[in-house]
Amino acid sequence: MLSLNNVSKSFGGVKAVDKCSFEVKENTITSLIGPNGAGKTTIFNIISGLTKADSGTIRLSDRNIADLAPYKIAKAGISRTFQLTKVFRNMSIKDNLLIAKNANDNDIKKILESVYLHKPLETLASELSYGQQRLLELARSLLMPHSLLMLDEPTAGVNPEIRRELKLILRSLKKNGKTVLLIEHDMEFVMGISDVVIVLNEGKVLKEGKPKDIVKDKKVLEAYLGK
Ligand SMILES: Nc1ncnc2c1ncn2[C@@H]1O[C@H](COP(=O)(O)OP(=O)(O)OP(=O)(O)O)[C@@H](O)[C@H]1O
Ligand SMILES: [Mg+2]
Repeated sequence: MLSLNNVSKSFGGVKAVDKCSFEVKENTITSLIGPNGAGKTTIFNIISGLTKADSGTIRLSDRNIADLAPYKIAKAGISRTFQLTKVFRNMSIKDNLLIAKNANDNDIKKILESVYLHKPLETLASELSYGQQRLLELARSLLMPHSLLMLDEPTAGVNPEIRRELKLILRSLKKNGKTVLLIEHDMEFVMGISDVVIVLNEGKVLKEGKPKDIVKDKKVLEAYLGK
């Protein structure tokens, strides 16, 4: 459904993304892993149009989206969350969600239940814990009409309970036919839910495969664990 072909991006002298090619297949959970600074978030920003690649092509279901403005890419079906949570703190839960889609209270309650966020709709986002704000952001990205959901480190800084819930959420998304591209540092989490894992190192794809093949790959262990 999504394919990157030879995508590169430099920031000054830093090759953040270096001739990256990979594919995200429909109805899979595909995870991008790799050390800090490997280029994962830059790839997300390129896919969603916030950063323009220096070269390469990006296709979403046979449509080249590389030169589209971010709002057009969102309209084409890509919904995402951010590594640093971006909720509107001085707005209520409900208003934060209405930004994604004009939904009625019932639909909003359903989506909040699906992410285990049990709070009154009028609660201000600033009154939520960090983990709950992440769930709110996830709810917003789910509510946005999309064919591909991209999550940048959804478990970062959230407690073990929310982490478990996130796993359940992702499993049920997959069961419902959704396609997810995930950036994640928590290896146990990644290996437990991914169909495909793509390992990035210094902007390059180091290895791609099923979790069981990734965990025993020597190159991956060296790059990722610094062994
Ligand atoms: N806007 C920018 N300006 C300059 N350099 C940048 C910019 N964005 C990213 N970089 C650099 O590009 C490289 C890749 O960064 P990126 O944020 O994509 O890494 P990452 O894999 O998401 O890392 P992390 O796991 O720490 O989130 C880093 O060296 C970073 O400093
Ligand atoms: Mg990142």
